[in-house]
Amino acid sequence: MRVSVIGGAGYVGLVTAVGLAKLGHQVVGVDVNATVVAGLQSGVSPIYEEGLDDALAACIASGNLRFTHELGDETSEADVVFVAVGSPMRADGSADLAAVSDVVKNLATLLRGHTVVAVKSTVPVGTIAAMRSEFETHGDSVIDLVVNPEFLSEGSGMWDFFHPSRIIVGTDSARAREVMRDLYAPFLPGGEGISTDLDMARDVPLLETTVQDAQIIKYASNAFLATRISFINEVAAVCDHLGGDITRVAEGIGYDPRIGHRYLQAGIGFGGPCLEKDLQALIYFAAEHGYKANFLESTLARNEEQLNVIVQRARELVGGELRGKKISVLGLAFKGGTNDVRTSLSLRIIHLLMNFGAVVSAHDPVAIEEARRLAPDIEYAADPYVSAEGADLVLVLTDWPEYGELDWSRIAKASNGKSVFDGRNVVDQIACETAGMAYVAIGR
Ligand code: UDX
Repeated sequence: MRVSVIGGAGYVGLVTAVGLAKLGHQVVGVDVNATVVAGLQSGVSPIYEEGLDDALAACIASGNLRFTHELGDETSEADVVFVAVGSPMRADGSADLAAVSDVVKNLATLLRGHTVVAVKSTVPVGTIAAMRSEFETHGDSVIDLVVNPEFLSEGSGMWDFFHPSRIIVGTDSARAREVMRDLYAPFLPGGEGISTDLDMARDVPLLETTVQDAQIIKYASNAFLATRISFINEVAAVCDHLGGDITRVAEGIGYDPRIGHRYLQAGIGFGGPCLEKDLQALIYFAAEHGYKANFLESTLARNEEQLNVIVQRARELVGGELRGKKISVLGLAFKGGTNDVRTSLSLRIIHLLMNFGAVVSAHDPVAIEEARRLAPDIEYAADPYVSAEGADLVLVLTDWPEYGELDWSRIAKASNGKSVFDGRNVVDQIACETAGMAYVAIGR
């Protein structure tokens, strides 16, 4: 099928464009960022995702994928146009839809004939109706709108694309449902016969819903993941008070098949581009429609509170006063496996520590460059041992596997305070204590 992905240089757009091209569709990625588009056209990806570079190069070479910064014939003649531009959160929790509206205006004048416009951007309930009336005011085309949310996690985006847990198609158009079934055919029940040499999931559940339900599924999925994390951080606090070990408790809870083990890692709280944004959005839209979502609000509040829990504990570990104390912070990315720091709680914790007068030296295996751009006021160290020099406390804030394998005798020699606060439960406690460091963790 002919597919156009608007916002094709962004995280969701790029993974979608490359994934669909790998499935054999003819894909064009359209993005306003001409520099990134030029890079992509020569096979250079602006983001790091395992398997993405190779897949990008292969699809460009096969002629299945190209990139452009202008909307043109390939989009006007496409069977499916994906909208995957950003819908960032405003300070009040509402979504900034400027980019989405621009795309809709441009598509309204460009599209000819019968096209399915599939929205990947997470947009509020009600936006689709507004889009529909924009399309209707511009003449001769027939446009079917679909909400087709993505469930890609940073760091495993390509794997997630080829192994979806479910495909959600929200639309009131029978024709659009058929087009989307064709688009995703190899994933769907009955699609096993379609041969591909890809490592991919088959027989994936397809859920065809209304537009509203598809949107709420997306928001509620992320709100639920956020709730699990706030829940386990709350139980971790109980463990801290009662003398329990949250890692054993979470393991014990998770063996219940009704619960499962995932998203039960206690830590500094949830960061990242989606969990907080979608949770906030759900609270905001509920309020707009007259419902105060108290339960969701406490999930969010618990996440904020976790920052104070971390800072308060750090204060105790350096003797009750942060002013003038040196803290080595290991980890800047919002989670291990990515260089994304935009919504990292680590940066927020560092700024809180600095506001209390602490001197921070921060390290990350891959995210220092991005962090420096966003937070030039922080002092960065090229390796964890340099960061630990003279430190009163070593504070681990990202779950990088590297931090599970540190040479603690080197850190013990370099540091001043000889104590480690493991904010992610990733450090090897025995290695740490054998090296003579005092080890403290969340909920243990
Ligand atoms: C998330 C959703 O997982 C994905 O389906 C959606 O499409 C986009 O949002 P992502 O933001 O990449 O993906 O991150 P995710 O892996 O879900 O982690 C979010 C945050 O929660 C990170 O800060 C992570 O460290 C934290 N987390 C995750 C925990 O603290 N404990 C856990 O058990 C899991």
